[in-house]
Amino acid sequence: MPLLNKLHALVGPAGLVIDADAQAPYLTDWLGKWTGRTTVVVRPANTAETAAVVRLCSETRTPIVTQGGNTGMSGGATPDASGAQVVLSTTRMNRVRAVDPVNNTLTLDAGVILANAQEAARSVDRFFPLSLGAQGSCTVGGNVATNAGGIAVLRYGNTRELVLGLEVVLPDGRIWNGLRGLRKDNTGYDLKSLFIGSEGTLGVITGVVLKLFPRPTSHATAWVGADSLEKLVELLGLMRTRCGERLTAFEMMTAPSLQLVLDQVTETRAPLATPAPFNALIELSDTGAASDVHGEESGPGALLESALAEAMEAGLANDAMLSASEAQTMALWKLREGISQAQVRAGKAIKHDIALPISSLASFVAQAEKEVQACLPGASVINFGHLGDGNLHYNVLLPADTDHDTLKHRTHDLNAVVHQLVTNYGGSISAEHGVGQLRRDELRIYKSPVEMELMLRIKQAMDPNQIMNPGKLL
Ligand code: FAD
Ligand code: MLT
Ligand code: ZN
Repeated sequence: MPLLNKLHALVGPAGLVIDADAQAPYLTDWLGKWTGRTTVVVRPANTAETAAVVRLCSETRTPIVTQGGNTGMSGGATPDASGAQVVLSTTRMNRVRAVDPVNNTLTLDAGVILANAQEAARSVDRFFPLSLGAQGSCTVGGNVATNAGGIAVLRYGNTRELVLGLEVVLPDGRIWNGLRGLRKDNTGYDLKSLFIGSEGTLGVITGVVLKLFPRPTSHATAWVGADSLEKLVELLGLMRTRCGERLTAFEMMTAPSLQLVLDQVTETRAPLATPAPFNALIELSDTGAASDVHGEESGPGALLESALAEAMEAGLANDAMLSASEAQTMALWKLREGISQAQVRAGKAIKHDIALPISSLASFVAQAEKEVQACLPGASVINFGHLGDGNLHYNVLLPADTDHDTLKHRTHDLNAVVHQLVTNYGGSISAEHGVGQLRRDELRIYKSPVEMELMLRIKQAMDPNQIMNPGKLL
């Protein structure tokens, strides 16, 4: 029996997408950078169906590309051009399995949309802190598979820090039930950690236990302008000292990044009267008694105001705008979160998602500016990111009509310049977006042979037939 008929027998007609038009959204990534082919997109309804599909693929040596919300930035969820890879979409697996406000855990199918996971936490007066621009369409399984970061890492950590347990369909079709909601479990190797950030190369994540937190009841948000990155880094230090745990987000946008959003995204306006070369979007949050945005004496509003006054006094900030309403807060976040879409609209971005020690950020950027301009005179650098985590999205924007070959050469040259410098500074060439097909070849250059060998051995041990997302990550 052909594979398609066998798959039909396992998941029924509702679980297969065969029509070319209906398949199209699964075959191109969010950035529009990669397009592949497939004979079939399989959408199992639950873990048992997923296991049956993977077992069949294992027997027939059919490669599987697992896909969640298809919002990834590294081409990890796009099949190759051969048409031989099956796309396994998790989006029908979207049940909230259990919410436990006493254990502070949330157990979900992996295909649950992140925003729905946040809502499930809110429904029991708890908080799930993972937050990113794609939260309305990315899935928790995708978040785990990429170890997603986002805007609240500074306070709550990456996805890795937020996962307590996993259920995974292994490459041979067996189910590993590691859905434990424990804060302590020293019974050997931490298997779940292997799957976090594995980008679909070691198995299909079907269930997740997430950590919940007390729900913040008051927030304060400000937009701050500074004339150098050194000053913003110093401001970050001051905010950490003054605000401690309450400092939830410290995002950075350079003037060209902000201008790009103002040009490309409707209903946006500059937050400060005089544009600043470097901008920070700062958020404090707190639990306990609710207060208005200006806060009580000890609330986040008052704290933010006094910390910023101190920063201005010390010359770390030129200007600041404290949000006075929920609408203003949303408008400020729209400026930050509009940057991905703005780049897609404005041209072709050569993206770098890099992590550096926070203490090296300013000197890295100064040096990178020189080297990038030497490599590509007049380059338009769109530098923004999660400053509080040392994570920059250090992108170079080329005109929309740049032809394929020029883009390829420029990308090669710029990647070499930026990533070598990142390595010299002890940084990482993929802070939060993963490796996928975007960084696969470069990984070999920047990871040590020992690290590469260990990763390849793990892959070989777990997926000896190499059917899980071949051509990605390794
Ligand atoms: P997909 O794109 O579908 O897949 C991503 C990878 O995970 C692929 O390799 C895929 O094979 C694998 N995968 C997916 N689901 C599973 C599963 N159940 N089991 C095994 N493997 C699986 N990322 C950040 O880290 N921080 C940000 O701030 C951020 N902001 C973003 C803003 C925008 C506007 C957009 C479009 C993207 C942003 N991203 C960000 C990237 C992206 O949203 C994240 O990587 C997200 O975690 C991907 O989830 P997904 O469900 O869309 O995964
Ligand atoms: C962000 O921080 O906005 C994202 O990671 C997305 C991007 O880099 O475009
Ligand atoms: Zn980011």
